[in-house]
Amino acid sequence: MDFELKSFSPEQAALLAADALLVLVPDASSGTPLPGALTVLIAEATQRGDLEAGVGKVLSCYRVEGVKAPRLVLVRAGDGKPAAVRKAVSAGMAVLKQPGIKKLGLLLSLLGNDTDGVSVAMQACAEASYSYTTTKPSAKARALQLVVVGVSQVAAARSGFDEGKALVTGVEWAKEWANRPANHATPSMLADAARKLGRKPGIKTEVLGPRQVAALGMGAFMAVAKGSIEPLRFITLHYSGAAKSSAPVVLVGKGITFDTGGISIKPAAEMDEMKFDMGGAASVLGTFAALAELRPAINVVGLIPTCENMPDGQAVKPGDVVTSMSGQTIEILNTDAEGRLILCDALTYAARFKPRSVIDIATLTGACVIALGAVRSGLFSTRDDLATALQQAGEASLDPCWRMPLDDEYAEGLKSNFADMGNVAGRAGGSITAAKFLQKFTADLPWAHLDIAGTAWKSGTAKGSTGRPVPLLMHYLMDEASRSTAAASDKPTKKAAGKRARKA
Ligand code: BES
Ligand code: MN
Ligand code: ZN
Repeated sequence: MDFELKSFSPEQAALLAADALLVLVPDASSGTPLPGALTVLIAEATQRGDLEAGVGKVLSCYRVEGVKAPRLVLVRAGDGKPAAVRKAVSAGMAVLKQPGIKKLGLLLSLLGNDTDGVSVAMQACAEASYSYTTTKPSAKARALQLVVVGVSQVAAARSGFDEGKALVTGVEWAKEWANRPANHATPSMLADAARKLGRKPGIKTEVLGPRQVAALGMGAFMAVAKGSIEPLRFITLHYSGAAKSSAPVVLVGKGITFDTGGISIKPAAEMDEMKFDMGGAASVLGTFAALAELRPAINVVGLIPTCENMPDGQAVKPGDVVTSMSGQTIEILNTDAEGRLILCDALTYAARFKPRSVIDIATLTGACVIALGAVRSGLFSTRDDLATALQQAGEASLDPCWRMPLDDEYAEGLKSNFADMGNVAGRAGGSITAAKFLQKFTADLPWAHLDIAGTAWKSGTAKGSTGRPVPLLMHYLMDEASRSTAAASDKPTKKAAGKRARKA
């Protein structure tokens, strides 16, 4: 699927040779409409009540005189802000499901400020036409090949357009890997996917196996992997977009390719959904795919501890005590609280990069699904500035999160008589006690944790990965890149600073 950006008036859009034209119409029309097939139609349909106000209200037309595309869909976009644009595009795409639509015109230029919505409009287009086919050859593959995005000013929309394109790539990487069943997405296969990303410009991949992980002393990670015949992998991705001396952002993704619960086995109902337990890892892969396309001026390291959590004669048992890479010992009271065990060693490893921030992304707790549902990811951080930056990135990218508390009292339940800590506390505040466990491994790091258990995939008939939180992460990284170029251009070396500022 490809995108093109064009500067289009409604008149020019009407002349576009395409299979369909989707026109976003704000509730309030700005001034008297210019005469033209499209604008006259909108005015008349509005006046006669055929195109009601309200986000997502649709009028579907066929072979309209003066409009070259055979199918024309008008859709209300309310106030024209990104949230309304996303809803409107989804509603419009829902009536354009015909397989014959290969080329689509998407007209945004009637919206007052059409540049803010470009990226979300593109993402909504991609979301609506997405089709998973890897293990379902009978599924209809995506027909849509080209979307021509029409805006009032190409120059103003360019950065949003580039970001939208990269986000579509990134979200679809994440969806593809998260959607694959566990036998088509083993730890080794995830490592191969990361190696494939490593062939893109600016990206390098490194993969460690069981022996190297043992040598590093990652006893908590190894304990989880023990019950499976699939060997664990520890994946490191490097994206270099800035000077070597620039401290990287480290992203750590939980990569449990299947979570049976281990000896503390889960009930059978819906256990298949635990193939999505590598959603954090998938979002890290997707973010790197987007970085390779967008090439922002920042360094990013991705860490993915990946293995299966299986019950077996060799599996770790409730009560077993293991030594983490940090040296702290852990009593594994519940083998189903495995995510924190693989993450804690990866977080210890993260310190070696002297990061400006470390963000782990994990489908960590059912408790977070109970707390926040499928709308917002749980955000936990020891640093207010980092938390604020992530919250803002979530709002701006329509991939929101909500900050949760980290009071020390929540760590009480993690005390153990037989180790430095247990891996579970009680049922109460389960997403917070999980975060408190992780906090014990992040010492002085500027650290944040995103619990995406409720947001990474959808259940029921729409079962499938959402690709979240790739938009949030990319938005944060883009903001960080511009913050650091701004900071660098404040420095006295005038010549170099000027250069960087222009680049930004
Ligand atoms: N992968 C699960 C978390 C999960 C559960 C995500 C349901 C999405 C939906 C995680 O490994 C897990 O099993 N967590 C346990 C922790 C408990 C044993 C303290 C949970 O949430 O039940
Ligand atoms: Mn589990
Ligand atoms: Zn899990």
